[in-house]
Amino acid sequence: MANVHPSRRLRIMSIVGARPNMMKVAPLMAELRLHEEIQAVLVHTGQHYDYSMSQVFFDQLHMPHPDYNLEVGSGTHYTQTAEIIVRFGELVQQDRPDMVLVAGDVNSTIACALVAAKERIPVAHVEAGLRSFDRSMPEEINRILTDAMSDLLFTTEESGNRNLANEGIAPGKVFFVGNLMIDSLVRALEMARESSLRSELGLNAQRYAVLTLHRPSNVDDGDRLTRTLDAIAQIAQRIPVLFPAHPRTARNIAQAGLKAVRTWEGGEIAEPALWMMPPASYLDFLGLLQRAVMVITDSGGVQEETTFLGVPCLTYRENTERPVTVSMGTNKVVGCDPQRLLHSALAVLENPGQGRSAPVRPPLWDGQTAPRIVRILREYWHSHS
Ligand code: UD1
Repeated sequence: MANVHPSRRLRIMSIVGARPNMMKVAPLMAELRLHEEIQAVLVHTGQHYDYSMSQVFFDQLHMPHPDYNLEVGSGTHYTQTAEIIVRFGELVQQDRPDMVLVAGDVNSTIACALVAAKERIPVAHVEAGLRSFDRSMPEEINRILTDAMSDLLFTTEESGNRNLANEGIAPGKVFFVGNLMIDSLVRALEMARESSLRSELGLNAQRYAVLTLHRPSNVDDGDRLTRTLDAIAQIAQRIPVLFPAHPRTARNIAQAGLKAVRTWEGGEIAEPALWMMPPASYLDFLGLLQRAVMVITDSGGVQEETTFLGVPCLTYRENTERPVTVSMGTNKVVGCDPQRLLHSALAVLENPGQGRSAPVRPPLWDGQTAPRIVRILREYWHSHS
């Protein structure tokens, strides 16, 4: 057991808001709770609120019930971010932590970091330094500003260290610790293998691909979404493409009335097609990824998970803020042209072995990132209190 701080416990408030925060914060909460000198408080902003976008991740990642839920819900970027600032600001007035820990690049991340920085509460940022160099992505603005406000910056890959140095962040604040998402993945792999979804779909012995799409730039314009899904439907003539759809994407598909997409209503998949399904739980999704022939995505985290698993990934974006997944991993950034995506996907299908053998794992993606972070948080506390 850790030494107990001579005066009082370190009260750390960790923030989750959106789905991708959950798998980063869960292993950290578990590790923080091992230390008697630390009081770990969990705040959910409520940015994501559907069962399938939030609670199911709490359950499967064994995350404690949040101590506070700010219940902000959806809105424009401005109203959502502003509402989180107001509600989190009120919370820290009543229950002031010694440190605020934020993860990733979502609106909840920047909003809570801003409140803490203004309150002179030290901010720790998990997944710092990633840059797409594309400011049309809302997440890029969130990343740059969160890093500028943070006191402790935890990076997942070397590019993060370089980017932060280029932005003039003092090297003493930056710690290369590896990838917390991979901590969750390593812990969940066995259970994910047992996931029943693949059997329910009748895909244990069949080849299939997985698709995720949710970026506004890919899904908010009806014409573009139609062209993209028409191209993917051509791939889906060869193998089933499973498409667990984000609520934003599902709504836009419903509005556009797209014929390229078939809706899965349970049971075995009878034929190759582009099968849209509800958002998958964490374990079901990992279970699907593990055996996929190929993954097409515009997500950030999925690029990392496929690299770790050695599954070929085609990223349907012009850039990636996670270059190590390309330089060492299985990721290929194919751009945003549907025909190019089609061409690249067919190439993967024709060379099925590519990218599958013995995955190369980026440095420190070893499932031990949470203990590294907690060690640094404790040292910081001891030297600043
Ligand atoms: C957010 C993150 C994005 C991350 C993604 C993962 C920002 C800027 N973006 O995008 O980086 O990759 O989460 O999912 O923070 N909705 C529901 N139920 C929910 C949540 C959302 O129906 O539980 C719908 C709402 O109609 C909402 C829309 O999805 O308007 C978008 O949600 P929002 O939180 O604004 O951003 P995401 O697109 O999910």
